[in-house]
Amino acid sequence: MKIVVLNGSPRPKGNTAALIEAFKEGAEGKGHQVSVLQVGTMKIGGCKGCEYCHTKGGGTCIQKDDMAEVYPALAESDVLLLASPVYYHGLTGQLQSVVSRFYAVGAPAAKKWALLLTSGSPNVYAAIETQYRGILGFIQAESLGIFEYDGKRSGTEEAANEVKAFGASL
Ligand SMILES: Cc1cc2nc3c(=O)[nH]c(=O)nc-3n(C[C@H](O)[C@H](O)[C@H](O)COP(=O)(O)O)c2cc1C
Repeated sequence: MKIVVLNGSPRPKGNTAALIEAFKEGAEGKGHQVSVLQVGTMKIGGCKGCEYCHTKGGGTCIQKDDMAEVYPALAESDVLLLASPVYYHGLTGQLQSVVSRFYAVGAPAAKKWALLLTSGSPNVYAAIETQYRGILGFIQAESLGIFEYDGKRSGTEEAANEVKAFGASL
């Protein structure tokens, strides 16, 4: 399967990235193709709400930025892993911009999604989970799993093993 991971962290060597690497190792070990897009460091603007995509643009966005790299990967994806640090109880702004920009194409091809969150504190995931489940219902997609690690757990071997095992289970 083609697995696309969107890392919303602006820290390419941060807590989220380390867990993504473990996930990738597990999934690649089973022969899956894993593309990790570091959207947290890309230049991706928020949706302008201009509706160009649904009018003249015919499904393309008027903004010419790094979404040009993301859209083709999404179009080919079988599984989508949304990965993000929790920023003020939400996704990072960078990842939220990407999610808003799904609007132009309707939805990613992937009908199987998963969520990986890291945070400083525990129990800070409710808003993101609500958004995630809302999107899945809207696009009729399935959740394969939700993985959440606070500051005490995100850097542990146990956490890495958990996400690696998840990758290997796909
Ligand atoms: C701007 C900002 C906002 C944050 N907001 C929260 C928060 O609301 N709740 C929380 O538990 N941790 C919060 N954190 C901590 C990060 O979620 C946590 O350190 C995360 O693991 C960082 O991931 P990264 O290393 O992949 O960037 C925040 C960090 C930053 C920089």
